[in-house]
Order: sequence, then structure tokens, then C-alpha cells
Amino acid sequence: MADHGTPIPMTARKSPPLRGTALIPGDKSVSHRAFILGALTVGETHITGLLEGQDVLDTGKAMAAFGADIQRIDEGEWLVNGVGVGGFGEPEDIIDCGNAGTGVRLIMGAMATTPITTTFTGDASLRSRPMGRILDPLTLFGATSVGRDKGMLPLTMVGARDPMPAQYTSPVPSAQVKSAVLLAGLNAPGETVLIEREKTRDHTERMLRGFGAEIETVKTAQGYAITLQGQPELKPLSIAVPRDPSSAAFPIAAALLVEGSEILLPNIGLNPTRAGLLTTLLEMGADITYENEREEGGEPVADLRVRASQLRGIEVPPERAPSMIDEYPILSALAAFASGKTVMRGVKELRVKECDRIDAMARGLEAMGVKVEEGEDFLIVHGQDGDVAGGITAQTHFDHRIAMSFLCMGLATVKPVSIDDAGAIATSFPVFEDLMTGLGAPVARDNC
Ligand code: S3P
Repeated sequence: MADHGTPIPMTARKSPPLRGTALIPGDKSVSHRAFILGALTVGETHITGLLEGQDVLDTGKAMAAFGADIQRIDEGEWLVNGVGVGGFGEPEDIIDCGNAGTGVRLIMGAMATTPITTTFTGDASLRSRPMGRILDPLTLFGATSVGRDKGMLPLTMVGARDPMPAQYTSPVPSAQVKSAVLLAGLNAPGETVLIEREKTRDHTERMLRGFGAEIETVKTAQGYAITLQGQPELKPLSIAVPRDPSSAAFPIAAALLVEGSEILLPNIGLNPTRAGLLTTLLEMGADITYENEREEGGEPVADLRVRASQLRGIEVPPERAPSMIDEYPILSALAAFASGKTVMRGVKELRVKECDRIDAMARGLEAMGVKVEEGEDFLIVHGQDGDVAGGITAQTHFDHRIAMSFLCMGLATVKPVSIDDAGAIATSFPVFEDLMTGLGAPVARDNC
């Protein structure tokens, strides 16, 4: 993939109270899966509320390259006419998944049991992320691959001609690994079993069930055992994508930090495998209320009302990590303003995300004078009781969540906070700048 475009430096300054309604875009995890499962289903899958961020658009492009017909009807509304389980055709060119670890890992799983050859690549960040965690289980189905050292991208995968079902215990708490195995299991005859020791986000299981696959999860002594019956005939579905709780985390954090704020976030996905940050914030003393709790498209949702709050540091239970793994950057930003220290353990997966997120947050916080302690598997932030200096330019390493975390901090620090590049925000939250300014937040590009 070509390098990213010209950097977009941005600055956030001390904000007046945030007010209004924040319409958060669709859930990124659910959107990727809607495109992929739609592509594996004969007939028309109708999607509303799809996240039109670059990561998901790259997955849509990939599905078209495998033979699915993908059409945009309106904002967030898409139709997918798929090719059926085992029906992927061989792409004519390299599949470029851009910045998206979820995209590339799920797609590799989805093609691994079809007898086609595909070469995958991505941007500099994705090319440095570990793929061995996916390649190991996909080999059990009969797929082979050749890539760079440690299985890094670019790599070429040859899908199994005679796929075998697999039984695999995931050594890492990763919904991407789980989903890759389940998607590969779709075109293997018989039962594929994936065991995960800690429960990770379960959108793939829910959506597979919605498309008519036979899949069940049983808690065993080894962990959660998920059994999928292979070679189902999937039935097309209407999917209403809930709004993304991981994106909602940023305006929620901003409203908590900026004195006098009160905002409403309608229709936020509250799947328990994703809601760990909200539990944590409530324990820290956040004023967040759930209104109108309901279920939509197989996922629990609610409207969230958030008011500015003085937070207290806590020890986050390590077993909660999988349900808030993407939220540690913004939690560590909030922790800097809290009273007392916030202890985050069991978080080593953060080191292999879009960047090393422990390192990126620790360096930026330290530059602002916040005391942090870190180790391979933990981050401790010593809160400054509301008084954080700011006055830095944070390095974002083309990581959307690092970029948004530092901008949210700048709304409440003494001096403004700048970031070197806001370009990555478009991968998951393309309307971030407009949404935040709409709430009254002074965030702006430096050259405007
Ligand atoms: C995702 C799973 C998580 C998460 C990522 C999205 C998914 O990664 O960090 O942003 O949609 O399955 P891991 O499964 O690798 O923890």
C-alpha cells in the first residue's frame, strides 16, 4: 500500500461545556462482519448503519474482489449479494486491507478453506503486526501460506483444496483469532470447535446464528467452547448495525472531562463483551445513565446520557480486559485527570494493536508531566486530580485511538494538546472532527 497522505496535524484547546446529541457511526466490528458474512451468503443482505470508515470500506472492496456484488444505496445503507459458503473466486490482484487487523485476519479465515490463492498486504502498521496467531490455526484446516519473517504481511495464502474441520484452543484472548477460525470452519465439513479461555467479543457468533448457521457456545473447564457445524446454507439477513461503543468512548470521555457538559448518545451498542469501559467508568464515579435499554438486530443497545464528573482512580480487574481492549488509551487519558492512581493489568495485547498503545500513551502522558509506570503487561497512571498541563504535540503512530485520546485530553488540559497526524481517525470515526465541534469542542486542523 502507498504511504499515508500528507499528515494532518490537529490541536484541541480548553473547551466550553459540551452540549447536544452525538450520533456515533456504526460499529466497526459488526460492519466488517456484515460485509464478510453477506459475501458468503447467496441472496441479498441489506445493511443499515454501516460504518463507512476506511477499514470497513477496504473489507468491502476485498469482498468484491472475491466475487460478491456490493452496492451503496445511501449513507450507511448497503446491499451485498454474496457467492455462498465456499464460493469465493480468486482475486485478480493483491488484497490491500489498509490499516485493518480485523479486516485482514477475518478475510484470511474466510478464504482459507476455499481452493484459491490470495496475496494480502496493508499499510506500514498492518505490515508490522503478527499474523502467526491466525496462520497457526488456519494450517489445521489445510491452508498453507508464505509470508515475511514471523508471518508478517505481505503474505500469500493458498486455501485448502480438501478442508478438514479443526479443533483449536486460542492462546491469546482475541476475537479476531476466534472469528478467523469460525469463518474457516464454515467451508469445512463437520464440526469446528474453537475454545477461548477468556470470553472475547461475540459478534461473529451472533451474526452467524442470524444467518442461519448452527453454532453453540458451552462453558467448559477449558474455557468457552464454540462449536460450528460446517457447510451450512446461509440465509440473507437484514442487519441494523448498532452505533460503536468504542467510538462513543471519545465523546463520552470528553463530556466527563469538560466541566458543565451534558451530552446524549443514542443507540449505543452495549454487548457485554464490549461494555467493559462503561462498567469501569461507573466504578470511577462517572455520571452516565442508560436510557431506553432495548435489543436491536440481536445486540443490546441503549441511549447514554453523560454529565461531567470528577473521577477516582481504580484498579481495573484484568479479566475485564477483553471487553474493553480498545478503550485503554482513552481510559489512561481519563485516568490522568482522576484522583489517585488507575491500575491497568493484563493488557499486553495493547502492544500489538495499530501501534504499541501502552508505549504511545505512556510517552504522551509523561511529556505532559503525568507520572506513569509501565511493564510488558501493565500500565499505571497517577492521576493529577483535574490539573493536567498539556502543551505537547503527541506522536500518534498513525493510530486512530491514540489520536482521538490525546485530542480529548486537550479539551481539559491547561495548555492545548496537538497531535502530529489525525489522518488515521478516518479508519474508524470519519466524522469525529464534525461531531466534536458540533458538541462545542474546539478541535481544529492546524493549517485551517
Ligand atoms: C476486533 C477485535 C479486537 C479489537 C479490534 C476489533 C474484532 O482485536 O482490538 O479493534 O472486530 O474482532 P483482538 O481480537 O485481536 O483482540
